[in-house]
Amino acid sequence: MGELTNFYNPTAVAIVGASKKPGKVGNSIVKNMIESGYPGKIYPVNPKDSEIEGLKAYPSVTAIPGPVELAVLSVPAAKVVEAARECGEKGIPYLVVITAGFKEIGKEGLDLEKELVATCRRYGMRMLGPNCVGMADTHTPINASFTRNSPLKGDIAFLSQSGATLIAILDWSRSVGLGFSKMVSLGNKGDLSEIEFIAEAAADPYTRVIACYLEDVADGARFLDVVREATRKKPVIILKSGTSQAGAQAASSHTGALAGSDLAYDTAFRQCGVIRARSLTELFELAIAFSRCPVPAGKRVAIVTNSGGPGIVATDNVEARGLTMARFTRETIDELRAGLPAEAALYNPVDVLGDGKADRYRFAMEKVLADPNVDSMVVLMCPTAVAQPVETTRAVVELQKQYPGKPILGGYLGGESMAEAVQLMAEAGIPCFTFPEPAIAAISGLVNYGQFREMPGDGNELSYPDVDKRAVKAIFYDVIRDNRLVLLGSEAAAVARAYGISAAPVSLATTPDEAVEEAQKMGYPVVLKVASPKILHKTDVGGVKVGLDSPEAVRRAFVEIMENVNLLLPEAVVYGIEVQKMMPKGTELIIGMTRDVQFGPMIACGLGGIYVNLLKDVSFRLARGLTRREIENMLAETKAYTLLRGYRGEKPADLPALVDAIGRTARLVLDFPEINEIDINPVFAYNQGLSALDIKITIS
Ligand code: COA
Repeated sequence: MGELTNFYNPTAVAIVGASKKPGKVGNSIVKNMIESGYPGKIYPVNPKDSEIEGLKAYPSVTAIPGPVELAVLSVPAAKVVEAARECGEKGIPYLVVITAGFKEIGKEGLDLEKELVATCRRYGMRMLGPNCVGMADTHTPINASFTRNSPLKGDIAFLSQSGATLIAILDWSRSVGLGFSKMVSLGNKGDLSEIEFIAEAAADPYTRVIACYLEDVADGARFLDVVREATRKKPVIILKSGTSQAGAQAASSHTGALAGSDLAYDTAFRQCGVIRARSLTELFELAIAFSRCPVPAGKRVAIVTNSGGPGIVATDNVEARGLTMARFTRETIDELRAGLPAEAALYNPVDVLGDGKADRYRFAMEKVLADPNVDSMVVLMCPTAVAQPVETTRAVVELQKQYPGKPILGGYLGGESMAEAVQLMAEAGIPCFTFPEPAIAAISGLVNYGQFREMPGDGNELSYPDVDKRAVKAIFYDVIRDNRLVLLGSEAAAVARAYGISAAPVSLATTPDEAVEEAQKMGYPVVLKVASPKILHKTDVGGVKVGLDSPEAVRRAFVEIMENVNLLLPEAVVYGIEVQKMMPKGTELIIGMTRDVQFGPMIACGLGGIYVNLLKDVSFRLARGLTRREIENMLAETKAYTLLRGYRGEKPADLPALVDAIGRTARLVLDFPEINEIDINPVFAYNQGLSALDIKITIS
């Protein structure tokens, strides 16, 4: 558990700002600590009172006689730094700072928060907060927070960047009997952030699933490294808010969070195995499913229902979620036929009909669960006058015990008539929802996680020992000395070549004779392109001539391009004309890179050419930690993949060469943080090898 050993299980806790007065934050923290059944020592600290809630109070932490392992600070913002300093002097290793009025209020608060963090660092203290509700651990037990009540005991660790959300969830969870191993209000994440708490929860024997509400990720690189490890051990489900433009602004004014681009979050979460919830409802539906269900062996779902409509809705959802409807064996079908009424639907979904009672449900469910082609089962039930929800649920509970490896989830439609049955399901630890969709969504989450965990942890970052860093450095040096940030095509091609990316031969000529000389060297036909960092759309200004197959043609094209550019863009600085070997046509792709504030470089690949922006057939991955398998998956996600595999009799493209080129591009941008953007469009993919034709590199 590393950095947080004893944070949740301290031997003694000081509450600085403890108060006698009911209704004050400092009073509710003391009460919560007492009521939680915390087994260690509680020391209220208050300069005026000597006794609070029946406990001896101390005028300062330094006056406390014994050692203290955790201090909860609930004094006004102006007094927090001094209080933290005293805790440091006392040798207290952990702080929970409840107080608001730090970075979330602007510059002044930010400065105060920096001072607080610096104080913690000076004394080697780790701090939760500031601006948080506190934390609770039901297994210690401890409740060092000002929540209205304590969480029930359970195995979900819930980390929330919003204190209000945590409080609301806690209140709701008690009403539905949902328990937590720990609850942490992350606050401003001045020191400790989701990263440390996820790592700790992944190692915690009492936690089975980690659920988070986040508004941002403080350190993208560390998040990727740590969470990638954690998800191998336990499911991590995250609701990341602030995805919309308006939402992102709300997030930044809320806790001063700097929301990154949503695409980067999506990519990062997928790459490190995080299950992304899209709403608070989904966050907890998934958390409940993960806390109660086994991960199924596969994605084949069976549905048993007493009504057609919900069965169809569930079936649609199974397909929409990428799951499959289980195909029963011949034996199962025969047995179902023999035991169910003639009107019953035998194929998945199995419809036991509106007059189906508990015995008919039990029979159908037994047969379905015994089928080797079934990985999970959803029981749907409508409260018809003759349905027996409670008796049917008893059968569900028994069957779950017989088939512990196959998740069973309920979709009990209705309300009043189903309440007792729903309660029974909850008591038996079987997730039960009011409608079919969440049950299917939960199975989809379980299946995806199972697939992720089965993927071998191919953690080898791509390494290319043959790359020539020095050559790239030298090119960048020259570009910067030339007061430019955009590389010429010939320079970009040289950078690509230094990293083993096969770029079409290209060189810069300043006179028609030089152009001819270069063309002779590389062989005809060639293409001529104007070389000017200011001209982005060369074709539009008549700056490109293709298919030049003789010295005369090259000479003529050189002069024409110069004339065109002089006429249309007389102010543009022209470095000369690039002569490029005309390459045979291949499948046109794009390989690119853009940087995200939080997660660093993101690599894109997909269908290239002039319709890139129109077709948007591009898939993304973060360069950090990118593996060969990820690149293969990335390619497979694009429509271009169908072309690459050989569409309509075409020869397939050289996929290993493509994977290599993408991997090398990732290596390049990781090695050179000064590269702002890369666009290689088009890349011609051939049956053997590839060729990068137009490479744009911008540095900062
Ligand atoms: N050491 C110990 N106790 C001290 C102290 C010190 N250095 N300085 C003051 N105190 C005592 C006060 O005397 C007072 O005790 P009393 O009730 O017996 O008078 C107590 O600490 C609290 O100080 P007070 O000035 O009354 O502050 P408060 O209780 O009104 O507010 C906070 C303190 C922390 C609750 C408030 O500043 C705050 O931040 N509120 C928002 C909390 C929040 O929303 N957090 C984020 C949730 S998402």
